[in-house]
Amino acid sequence: MIAATTIQIERTTNPKVKPQPDKLGFGVHFTDHMFIMNYSAEHGWHQARIVPYQPITLDPAAKVFHYGQTVFEGLKAYRTEEGRVQLFRPDMNFKRLNRSNDRMSIPPIPEELGIEAVKELTKIDQDWIPDGAGNSLYIRPFVIATEPLLGVHPSHEYQFIIIMSPVGAYYPEGINPVKIFVESRYVRAMVGGVGEAKTAGNYAAGLKAQEAANEQGYTQVLWLDGAEHKYIEEVGSMNVFFKIDGTVYTPALNGSILDGITRNSTIQLLKHWNIPVVERVLSIEEIYEAGRTGKLEEAFGTGTAAVISPVGELNWKGEKLVINDGATGEVSEKLYDNLTGIQYGKLEDPFSWMVEV
Ligand code: COI
Repeated sequence: MIAATTIQIERTTNPKVKPQPDKLGFGVHFTDHMFIMNYSAEHGWHQARIVPYQPITLDPAAKVFHYGQTVFEGLKAYRTEEGRVQLFRPDMNFKRLNRSNDRMSIPPIPEELGIEAVKELTKIDQDWIPDGAGNSLYIRPFVIATEPLLGVHPSHEYQFIIIMSPVGAYYPEGINPVKIFVESRYVRAMVGGVGEAKTAGNYAAGLKAQEAANEQGYTQVLWLDGAEHKYIEEVGSMNVFFKIDGTVYTPALNGSILDGITRNSTIQLLKHWNIPVVERVLSIEEIYEAGRTGKLEEAFGTGTAAVISPVGELNWKGEKLVINDGATGEVSEKLYDNLTGIQYGKLEDPFSWMVEV
């Protein structure tokens, strides 16, 4: 049951001091307001409200703490040079949120209501969109199972919350190439599991390998398939692409890889430019073979937080593969410039991706 709902607004009387645009980090600072909406089996989604940013109180038996019934999304708001505020493909986020909800037995959120909530919240906190090249307002919608009951069943109660954070680059490298460790011991997800859902457990499962990779000087982990440890999946915070002999390859979506919105947009841009792009099963061995024979021209990751992030080095079982001399490749740079050009309203938006707030 879906309750028709209007958004009640309570403004803060105590606005926070905003951070300096050159010292933002990622997800460190939060804006003055947040959105919350409740779900109960009796009333459906109801009580949509924007309130001052504040802690939430939950019963310690809330199912989210015990069984991880939760999903999240990530999108960004940008300010253009003329002062317009725009969102990048928010409909795609709410479609994916509802696919994640379905996988995690969480009731769907009406797409228009979700987008309306993001727009209203962004409007109220638009002064928090930071100045500075590459900066934006990161928007984090999420759903948590709040019913206080330890039986392993889908919750009958939820909260849908949106918080926002002024952010700079996700990686400390900024837009410089990152070094990535190819993980061959642990796995992130299996086909048939929850890999393609944006759910907390996928990220928690990756922390141990990520910590080990960080200790060896690698920024992130490249995950291989769970069954054979042979085929490339994703980097946890981004999807990956490889340019080999003029063609760009990315792993085909198989149920255990996140269906990235920047991934989808990258494929559309490459096709628009007539650069051959292929989605298929990709083995780590063939990437290394292309590297050894000089055919691997560049590699990059795509994601909302990561944007387009060049990959300068891989390490698989101790064998290092330096890509494009560790420098940013031509296609990565063109994608970064065009994608951010569209997002910040500097370039024409041929696909009508941007939605004005
Ligand atoms: C995003 O790009 O929005 C992500 O969800 C990646 C990460 C920060 C978890």
